[in-house]
Amino acid sequence: MTAAYHEVKTVADLAQEPDAYREAIAKIVTSHAVNELYGAQVFDEPAIALAPTPYAKWLTCRIAMEEYHHHVRFKGLADDLGIAQERTDPKLKRPLTIFEFPLKTWPQFCVIKMLADLAEILQVEDLLHCSFVPLRNIGRITMPEEKFHAQFGKDFCTELCKTEEGKREVQQAIDDYVPYLPLFFGASGSKNNETYRQFGLKERKNEEMRTDFLTRARSVVESLGLRFPDLTTT
Ligand SMILES: [Fe+2]
Ligand SMILES: [Fe+2]
Repeated sequence: MTAAYHEVKTVADLAQEPDAYREAIAKIVTSHAVNELYGAQVFDEPAIALAPTPYAKWLTCRIAMEEYHHHVRFKGLADDLGIAQERTDPKLKRPLTIFEFPLKTWPQFCVIKMLADLAEILQVEDLLHCSFVPLRNIGRITMPEEKFHAQFGKDFCTELCKTEEGKREVQQAIDDYVPYLPLFFGASGSKNNETYRQFGLKERKNEEMRTDFLTRARSVVESLGLRFPDLTTT
């Protein structure tokens, strides 16, 4: 559970908070700003060229536009907070491992949206209840778009699974991509996460979120009549 921590309503109110609170906010905002931008660059924008129909291209353009917008929102808050430019530049700050997957096909993109954006939904859920109100507000406007992305992924995977070949491709993409996902939630027993919980910036431990995510991801995959990979060896 989130520790009881008072609400911090504005960026200006941060002046009354301890340095450790300000640094925790900076880490969270920076991580979202970097990962939203990097994801848009390596997955969403290239996927426009992979989309098989004008309709799919249109929706993929919309997703790429929204992911870039997510970056712009978090980057705007980073600027308000006076966070140094280099902390929000993916060329200088290492993005998460889930973006290291080499995207090559349309079914892979659909699987990434179905599962990585579900992981993102869990992260944004935490922002909705966090003690820093400007971050909560970004979470509130970002959430419906992340839900749309995950639903888009599920809908297109469902469509692909109508043929035997498509079903094979989606299963292969799931088998290849799922091993990248558990690390998205960070290390178990993380010190940063403990600080975030003390300050009411996160509700759950990394390992609790990871377990919840894997349960939810498995149920989405199985609802398509597909198999969720065994991760015990990864
Ligand atoms: Fe996003
Ligand atoms: Fe998204």
